[in-house]
Amino acid sequence: MTPLHAVDLRCEHLAGVPCVDTPAPRLRWALRAEGRGRAQSAYRVLVSTDPADLAAERGTVWDSGTVPSADHIEVPYGGPPLTPGGTYHWTVRVHDEYGIPGPWSTPASWRTGITWSAPWIAHDRRHDPGVVDPAFRYGPTNRRGMPPAPLLRREFAVDGRPRSATLYVTARGLAVVELNGAAVDDAELVPGWTDYTKRQPYHAVDVTALLKPGANVLGATLADGWFSGFVGSDPRRPGNLYGRRPWLRCELHVVGADGERTVIGTDERWRSAYGPVRGADLLRGESYDARLERPGWSAPGPACEDWRPVLVEPHDGVPMVADRGEPVRVVEELPALRCERLADGRHIVDFGQNLVGRLRLRVRAAEGTVVRLRHAEALDTGGELYRENLRTADAEDVYVAAGRPEETYEPRFTVHGFRYAEITGPPELSTTDVVARVLHTDMPSAGRFRCSDELVNRLWSNIVWGLRGNVVGLPTDCPQRDERMGWLADAQVFAPTAALIMDTSAFFTRWLADVADAQSEEGVYADVAPKVPTTRDGAPAWADAGVILPWLLYRTYGDTAILREHWTAMHRYLTFLRRTNPDLRWRHRRHNDYGDWLSAGEETSRELVAAAYWAHDARLMAEIAGVLGLAEEAADYAELRTRLVEAFRADHLDAEGKVTGDTQTGYALALGMDLVPGHLRERCVAHLVANVERHGWHLTTGFLGVALLCPVLADTGHADVAHRLLTQRGYPSWGYTIDRGATTIWERWNGWTDEDGFASARMNSLNHYSLGSVGAWLVEGVAGLAAAEPGYARLRIAPRPGPLRWAEAEYRSVRGTVRCGWQRTDDRIRLALTVPPGVTATVCLPGTGAVFEDGRPAGGADGVLAAEPDGSALTVSSGTYVLERVLPG
Ligand code: BGC
Repeated sequence: MTPLHAVDLRCEHLAGVPCVDTPAPRLRWALRAEGRGRAQSAYRVLVSTDPADLAAERGTVWDSGTVPSADHIEVPYGGPPLTPGGTYHWTVRVHDEYGIPGPWSTPASWRTGITWSAPWIAHDRRHDPGVVDPAFRYGPTNRRGMPPAPLLRREFAVDGRPRSATLYVTARGLAVVELNGAAVDDAELVPGWTDYTKRQPYHAVDVTALLKPGANVLGATLADGWFSGFVGSDPRRPGNLYGRRPWLRCELHVVGADGERTVIGTDERWRSAYGPVRGADLLRGESYDARLERPGWSAPGPACEDWRPVLVEPHDGVPMVADRGEPVRVVEELPALRCERLADGRHIVDFGQNLVGRLRLRVRAAEGTVVRLRHAEALDTGGELYRENLRTADAEDVYVAAGRPEETYEPRFTVHGFRYAEITGPPELSTTDVVARVLHTDMPSAGRFRCSDELVNRLWSNIVWGLRGNVVGLPTDCPQRDERMGWLADAQVFAPTAALIMDTSAFFTRWLADVADAQSEEGVYADVAPKVPTTRDGAPAWADAGVILPWLLYRTYGDTAILREHWTAMHRYLTFLRRTNPDLRWRHRRHNDYGDWLSAGEETSRELVAAAYWAHDARLMAEIAGVLGLAEEAADYAELRTRLVEAFRADHLDAEGKVTGDTQTGYALALGMDLVPGHLRERCVAHLVANVERHGWHLTTGFLGVALLCPVLADTGHADVAHRLLTQRGYPSWGYTIDRGATTIWERWNGWTDEDGFASARMNSLNHYSLGSVGAWLVEGVAGLAAAEPGYARLRIAPRPGPLRWAEAEYRSVRGTVRCGWQRTDDRIRLALTVPPGVTATVCLPGTGAVFEDGRPAGGADGVLAAEPDGSALTVSSGTYVLERVLPG
């Protein structure tokens, strides 16, 4: 028997070396082993400040001892209080189902947060020569000029070679930090967006290797970012949402060979000056004059006479929080597929994929040559960039060449949503001179899906790229125009799909803190988080994300802490609804009341949407209270649920099972949220199928119905209809957009139509993930890989093949990797299944008669826990299985 391994160690959901400031960080690991029926019976965790101790099996900080337990997804650190500014290394060993210990895991580490004391510093514009460089005041709207990005530096000395050096850093704005001329890490757009009036995220970096005895220099380039740059599309208030300039706050904690700790922090000894970045904004772009570079500025040596004292401000008391999410990074480079030179000297470059990031360009041009980089998601019928849909987001970078034989430029303080770029200025340009650098929050990948239909595979790819494009620090609606905001409904409908593609546990944990911060005094969640002045309190389905997302994290990752953390806020919201709508009809305070946003061809009653979501919230709150052991609240919410379901049925369901408005989304919500009584379900489903047929086997659903439509159809015996919608190529459908060049998910079904061309540019993003929420059904329905219990402790494997010949999915759950793939031949279906240790799976294969393995009834096979005599269900323990069932002729 091979040993049971603990793998994929995480601290507070984070891989790598996270900085955490919770006193009892939650440790998690996944399990891996060969063979069937494998499971963890006990674990032992060791924590030390010296990795060598772990190698010697010494837990000098904490030794949990051998703990009889199968838990491995939420194990809290149980040792003595952690020291601020420390680094802790840990390893774990698990015992298998026979109590046999496996090998110690590959160690992992975390850092602890610090108690900050350094003040904030910024460039003091009073020293500026009066006007921003006119050459770079650009942007057709000529709105407020983009101030140059200042360089800040501090020289300091270090005695000897330090034992360790950790930099704790954050900014109000964006900071790129260097030590002795080298970037301290590969994090981008640091520290990301949050409501800086409510919390200030920071992260920690090990810079020991960059320090040297004697003179050292710490330097940072600062830009506006979300703090003082343009956010959203409010012409009345272009930018400066949180402040009028960017600020830096950092502390370098150096531990000398003698153990002495020295802190070099931001203070009045820093100096600042302007460099090559002559303007930078997330929406508008960056301008860079290479002639103004200051070689070696962030290393000891240059005179720096023109550097001026910085502004110094004490901290304003906003909580400093160790960042709970992964950093944004450049995660991939895409080559240019095509570079066409136009008659007027411009170059149009095609990367073949709508993506989010920026260009890296190789320039060979005379000194002073102005190179303009303009970005767009599509070309218009004339072959020109389609940029109208960017609205006021200029998405244009400008580079002025220094005239060196070869120069490379890549903006650092902006990000664009694009597939195409127009490059003007360089006399010559080829596909090898430019790449697209893809940026997003660097979450571990979690899953993949493939099947025998290339259209469906393209759809999956568009969904994946849609996700990648809208997780740059937070979940956004779109990445290209002057919006890019954390819209709550978009996130809640798409989150189940997102979680099957990337490990979103830390990412959403981070953002949910913003969602709670944006909750109003009255208790209602906002439409977007972080909140921006132009948006309001949340509409039905938007505000409800405040309840739905914590539940999803619990369901997906078995995370009970997130439920505990958000219980009060969620309860406040439900109390708000009851207080403002005492008759349990959500008529009041529906705010922008968007309904089934961007549906096609039919409108769903907004009352129905509100009633369905309120009843859904009550159900989740009853379950959440149960998980948290809040018996009274659980009973109260269960009772509220009952009454809200009665109200829904009374107002929105007739005796024939028809919902108000008779729309697809109406049925999807009613059936998907379990609001229809058993005796009416069949007729209700029949009305839904009739509606789909009435629309020529096309969907009509908008943001709210699209995620539920196919699962509801498939789970009510109409998988054939769901597959018909999935592979539909007529308008509206995913296939229609794909056949017209979509490489991401469009905001609207009619983003581009043969009849009208592009939809109104007022709102026509070609990279909005909401309508891609069908992705979860591809994995859970088509491939058949779904969780039946929180944290994937139990699986339900029930593929819906439809007309496909094969499909496969893989998902790295918190418990280990699940693989599920099936092939259909003329008379049978063959399933290959891998179930991680400690997990059981109920397999429901389509077909008739018993399930077989290796030609024998699977009922008696090793690892099979139960088998329905009619073959309709087979329950197996962990392991790998190849199962077959006969398909009816
Ligand atoms: C956003 C959406 C959002 C919607 C609400 C749009 O502008 O792009 O994603 O859900 O507004 O109406």
